[in-house]
Amino acid sequence: MCGIVGYIGKQPCVDLLIGGLRRLEYRGYDSAGVAIMDGGTTRILRSQGKLNNLTKLVAQEKPVGTLGIGHTRWATHGRPSEQNAHPHKYGSAAVVHNGIIENHAQLRSQLQSAGHKFSSETDTEIVAHLIDDEIKAGKGAEAAVRATLAKLEGAYAICVLIDGVSDTMIAARHDAPLIVGVGDGENYVASDVPAILNLTRDMIFLEEGEIATVTTEQIAISDLAGNPIDRPPQRILWDAMMAEKGGHKHFMLKEIHEQPRAVTDTIRDRLSPSKADAYIDGFEADPANVRKLFLVACGTSWHAALVGKFLIESLAKIPVEVDLGSEFRYRDPLVTDSDLFVAISQSGETADTLAALREAKRKGARVLSVVNVVGSTISRESDGTVYTHAGPEIGVASTKAFTTQLSALILLAIHLGRRSGALDEARAGELITDLLQIPEQMKSVLDHEATINVIARRYATARDFLYLGRGINYPIALEGALKLKEISYIHAEGYPAGEMKHGPIALIDEQMPVIVLAPRGSGYEKIISNLSEVRAREGKVIAIASRGDASIGDLVDDLIQIPDVRPELQPLLTVLPLQLLAYRIADIRGTDVDQPRNLAKSVTVE
Ligand code: G6P
Repeated sequence: MCGIVGYIGKQPCVDLLIGGLRRLEYRGYDSAGVAIMDGGTTRILRSQGKLNNLTKLVAQEKPVGTLGIGHTRWATHGRPSEQNAHPHKYGSAAVVHNGIIENHAQLRSQLQSAGHKFSSETDTEIVAHLIDDEIKAGKGAEAAVRATLAKLEGAYAICVLIDGVSDTMIAARHDAPLIVGVGDGENYVASDVPAILNLTRDMIFLEEGEIATVTTEQIAISDLAGNPIDRPPQRILWDAMMAEKGGHKHFMLKEIHEQPRAVTDTIRDRLSPSKADAYIDGFEADPANVRKLFLVACGTSWHAALVGKFLIESLAKIPVEVDLGSEFRYRDPLVTDSDLFVAISQSGETADTLAALREAKRKGARVLSVVNVVGSTISRESDGTVYTHAGPEIGVASTKAFTTQLSALILLAIHLGRRSGALDEARAGELITDLLQIPEQMKSVLDHEATINVIARRYATARDFLYLGRGINYPIALEGALKLKEISYIHAEGYPAGEMKHGPIALIDEQMPVIVLAPRGSGYEKIISNLSEVRAREGKVIAIASRGDASIGDLVDDLIQIPDVRPELQPLLTVLPLQLLAYRIADIRGTDVDQPRNLAKSVTVE
């Protein structure tokens, strides 16, 4: 997730922009830049790395001007570098952007055929090219931006300055947040409230498909067709820390609620419903040459790998081995040059996963990675990377990184299945249609937070928890238990439900809450028998079940319902109540949810 700020007024703006960018630092950085209007032309200053590098550059170059835009980048397309840093300028147009332009490749090749030369690998640069073309064709600034937006597909929040137009900045949003701050003789644009909260508390939240034309005295909002929109500002009463968390008490809660958006960003431009296919950017796998897949990861990412095994074996019919990064290397794994090794890592820096990747490479395997942080070591050392577009994850307990990993693994399974011949067009088409519904269904689960809060209060003082699941939901039982352990410090164990009778059943008494993942699908009857075994021993059963399952309510103490979806997609929904439950219990117990004791976000030691 990138951060955007903009200023127009009477004060020298560069320090205000840098201050705004600093307040967006929690969104993660790999490069930053500003464009300052100086004598009718924008001057661009950019640098790779932390904001301090840009601060030093600005101190040297001393740009002057009272109109400017700034950006901090979290790379999605193109590695972190100065060239790929925003603002991107072409001809007269300077642009900062947050989001993903899905049809960027197609627009880029059209522009290249018309003689345009590109200086970055980003999807954003095409926006500057398109706006400049419109200006050259005689359009005014606002009309040029409007005409350009009509050509873009995907998610964007942009802010634009145009040479020769020294009294206006233009901002627009579609599927990525953008706000306009209202000042006195000055106005601001920002991707997020905290960037400008020290300057104003009066904010106008732009809605989808809206454009704001901002001068020192006026903010004119219109829709894409040019119809004016009257929206009074809202007064924001949050304190600065709350603002960074989007009004949520913790980053973890914010990130839980970001999952529908994060999953959309991860799948959207990689699926073709018409061809019933999924694409992995820059990586074409030929299953005929793949003997076996190794999915290797640590922590939550390892749970995603366990789900990945079910997906790939079921949809692509290729054998999959799952291993922990910390175990793989030490067991002299039988990897050959006919194997595909897939490293899964949010940070892309986990030392054990990286060491496993190197070992697999040494043995000749081809390496693909599923990584969230663009330009991280694991992605650099892989032959190809499927980036999960979760945006920076700040909470130590992983949530949105996990569901985007699951999404990426579904894409990989479809991609392999279509090429191995195991997945026919009709089944792939149905799966893709259903997958595209998932973000909305995730929202509907997250909307039922109140039910989970009641359950959390009921069990917050328990000493132990047991999580049971079968099949594709067994790894979700592990993940639910891990979430609870990590942040509430309650002992919790995830178990395959069928194994309960071989040990954990001895622990069950009236003190023991047991979370049972029981959505409809194969294994449902068996899991009902398992939960009955728990009830017979006075254990308390909290079930996650499919909406419309009329009978399960009578068999359990507490019920959380989720939409009824095909088994391959269930983990994307069943995990959500478990994240919320862990969060609420930890919050009730008053632990440090975002930075639990003894844990680190990125573990770069073996
Ligand atoms: C740490 C984090 C976990 C994470 C694991 C793997 O333990 O606290 O949340 O799942 O590392 O990290 P990775 O960045 O490789 O996914």
